[in-house]
Amino acid sequence: MLLQLSTWREVEDYLRRSTGVLVPIGSTEQHGPTGLIGTDAICPETIARGAAEELDVLVAPTLSVGMAQHHLGFPGSITLRPSTLLAVIRDVVNSFARHGFDHLYFLNGHGGNIATVTAAFSEIYAESSLGIAARDRPRLRCKLVNWWVGPRVKALSQELFGEAEGSHATPAEVSLSYFAYPDAVKKAEMNPKIAPKGEILDASDYRRRFPDGRIGSDPSLATVEAGAKLYKASVADVVEDYRRFLEAS
Ligand code: NI
Repeated sequence: MLLQLSTWREVEDYLRRSTGVLVPIGSTEQHGPTGLIGTDAICPETIARGAAEELDVLVAPTLSVGMAQHHLGFPGSITLRPSTLLAVIRDVVNSFARHGFDHLYFLNGHGGNIATVTAAFSEIYAESSLGIAARDRPRLRCKLVNWWVGPRVKALSQELFGEAEGSHATPAEVSLSYFAYPDAVKKAEMNPKIAPKGEILDASDYRRRFPDGRIGSDPSLATVEAGAKLYKASVADVVEDYRRFLEAS
């Protein structure tokens, strides 16, 4: 059930059956010579929609701009400052909580969001614990899950791409985005074949050290077929994990 294609009456009915919501969260940033700038938002959104075909779950609109300051050396990348993203997450969670949602499952597509989203959850819990929230919310649970670490999808990425998976503009995420948008597949020579690895600092340092945007990966291995397999695996991972999250408390 997609929130944006629902009416308020349908959401009110849903709340009688479930108080869980799945929120895809991503980023808008360069993904190397062949990766789509929307990759990190497209991947969790696609998986969330697949999971919603198997689960009675409400899927929120994708939060598609994240914390991506280190990608700003490449045109097209957009970032929120950590403080802005933290404020966005707080407002989204508090809006859902006002209606009675108490299990918020954030399906994440971007490693750069993790620290900030986790800090936002701590702020939200502090609002309840310190009595700042309008009412006590003992059942409020927020969870952040990175789609690429599910057991099935992780094993499959390793099997398909091994060392060439790397950590940014990976063949797995690029494949999944190509599966979602097969008309947007891009081709380019990778030189070197596997990109360098290393630390990430600010935007200019990133571009100097990783001149084509990739880190440790060879996304020329990405295919729509691999994306279809990764889609199936990640939907199964999320369906299982979301059910566990709802049942746990
Ligand atoms: Ni990515």
